[in-house]
Amino acid sequence: MAEEISLVERIKMIENLYIITPEIKQALETIRICRDSGYKPYEPYCMTIEGPFGSGKTELATRVVQGILNDYAETQSAIKAVLLTTPVNPTEKKLSQEFFFGLKIPFRGRTDAHIMAETIKRNIDYFRPELIFIDEIQHFFDGQTSRLIISACDHLKQIIKQSSAPIILMGLDGKVAEFLELNPQLGSLFINTHHMKNFNWDEKKPESIRYLQEFLFHVEDGFHLKYPSNLAETSMAQKLFLASKGVKRVLMRLLIRAAKQAIQSGEEKINLSILSQVWLQIGRGPGSSKRNPFSFG
Ligand SMILES: Nc1ncnc2c1ncn2[C@@H]1O[C@H](COP(=O)(O)OP(=O)(O)OP(=O)(O)O)[C@@H](O)[C@H]1O
Ligand SMILES: [Mg+2]
Repeated sequence: MAEEISLVERIKMIENLYIITPEIKQALETIRICRDSGYKPYEPYCMTIEGPFGSGKTELATRVVQGILNDYAETQSAIKAVLLTTPVNPTEKKLSQEFFFGLKIPFRGRTDAHIMAETIKRNIDYFRPELIFIDEIQHFFDGQTSRLIISACDHLKQIIKQSSAPIILMGLDGKVAEFLELNPQLGSLFINTHHMKNFNWDEKKPESIRYLQEFLFHVEDGFHLKYPSNLAETSMAQKLFLASKGVKRVLMRLLIRAAKQAIQSGEEKINLSILSQVWLQIGRGPGSSKRNPFSFG
């Protein structure tokens, strides 16, 4: 029984593994400055986080929000930090709904946009969330008419400008900056931009390869398998790069499944044969490499 529990615990640990890379350390530092600036006599230091898909933006925000909620576990305040998502084709109503839902305000259908913004502001002033993340800002640019974009955009600007909460806008590379360029006055509230990265394999820039190798080293360390897998060894790292095209999401999906298989098979290390099987199971999506990088042939 004890062994069964420890197996469940091991799998949970593998599935929850989070690597604090130097870039994430830097982001956490800027986020801390942002968090500390809320509800002061001066305007909050808002910030942005941009990066390509699968680079870890939402994961970072989720972990920070969870950390703050854990700090307040005693008071059971679920509103001390929130992660909101910009709705697809955002309108004033859909945006307000997202805020109402995140801040746990009962939503009673459509009223005037100005009144909804006021209600949101009142609730923020009352509950004082220490951070409000707003993810997927690029949805503002998803094929709706410019009149609707402008009014939804204005609505969000109004909420941000009127509130003393530190806000972190997140989205795909360039899109958050594009959003803020629509209103330079709003942009001036933002103190910093953090760029998340996926991995690169550029022989002319050995530091790009080292960065992936260091990440793989920490992943292997965090999996706690009984025998070495040597994930960071150059030819293995290169295969993992080819299989994931450097996208953190794809890389971690392969490695987590491989680690679980390594435990369940009793092999207790990730080798090419396990990775090859895992690639056949979950590695052949449209964004992935056409050939199995782990096969011997
Ligand atoms: N630092 C990390 N350590 C371990 N795994 C990570 C880390 N960062 C991201 N991941 C893994 O990558 C996955 C994708 O990350 P996430 O969803 O945050 O990407 P994203 O940048 O928000 O992508 P998108 O733009 O598509 O929404 C996570 O579910 C997690 O498995
Ligand atoms: Mg995301």
